[in-house]
Amino acid sequence: MENSETELIEKIVSLKKRRNAVIRAHTYQQAEIQDIADFVGDSLELSQKAAKTDADVIVFCGVHFMAETASILCPDKEVLLPDLHAGCPMANMITAKHLREKKREHPKATVVCYVNSSAAVKAESDICCTSANAVRLIEQLPSGGEILFVPDQYLGNYVATKTGREMLLWPGFCPTHLRIQPRDISRQKAEHPQAKVVVHPECRPEVIALADEVLSTGGMIRFVHETEAEEVIVGTEIGILHRLRKENPEKRFIPASEQAVCPRMKLITLENVLWSLEEMVHQVRVPERIRLRAKAAVDKMLS
Ligand code: 13P
Ligand code: SF4
Repeated sequence: MENSETELIEKIVSLKKRRNAVIRAHTYQQAEIQDIADFVGDSLELSQKAAKTDADVIVFCGVHFMAETASILCPDKEVLLPDLHAGCPMANMITAKHLREKKREHPKATVVCYVNSSAAVKAESDICCTSANAVRLIEQLPSGGEILFVPDQYLGNYVATKTGREMLLWPGFCPTHLRIQPRDISRQKAEHPQAKVVVHPECRPEVIALADEVLSTGGMIRFVHETEAEEVIVGTEIGILHRLRKENPEKRFIPASEQAVCPRMKLITLENVLWSLEEMVHQVRVPERIRLRAKAAVDKMLS
């Protein structure tokens, strides 16, 4: 017989205590996963939290690079990813070997990698960034120098436009955010003329051009708390709507597109979170040689 949801949750809570574990979830996770998590956040907040925990085990409800980042920062913890297939397709659009080849073509370039990348790619990079701090970070780089930005061409293009810096862009992209089309935004704006439009910088430039605000998922959460607008059109993965609605019951949130679903994020379920705690799987560890170099890039971002 299948476990009922309440039974599953009770088992997770009790096992979590026994293992001295914490559950960390990204804002794109399914509602029931966000609800059992000790902390829900964007990539930057999740990295900052990982650096601070005193738990022995971190069950990471997100995609592989996020669990890897936690392991880079806390090598003494057991970091568990409940489904090993939960990988970010954009992160898989660049390998360390390809990046090394590109660096040979541009030996003087500062390599900035989006956190949506493997530990091996981070290890080949000078500095890491997330969508929450990419603009600030690029602004701080010495002017005039060559910048190679990997792997998201859309975030890279947005940052280049905002900062006026010329950047070489790796041709990676997020298939989920590309599903949001300019016509989706125009249609929702016509139906909800009072609404503010917030979009993620992984969206295409034609979508960004129609937005009031371009924000990381954490930035969207904060913006919605602060804005006086009663309706908000949300241009990112639709998992964020659960948290927005829960924390702002008086406001109305309209997904820019119902098609903006990240299938890999949805692989995490209550069943595999419980299984992960029972069997202590799948352990995500980064070889020390790579970890130390990747950590240097992540530490620069966090500092
Ligand atoms: P955030 O850093 O805004 O949470 O975004 C992560 C991500 O994977 C966006 O697709
Ligand atoms: Fe990767 Fe896009 Fe999914 Fe974020 S939403 S994890 S960038 S595929």
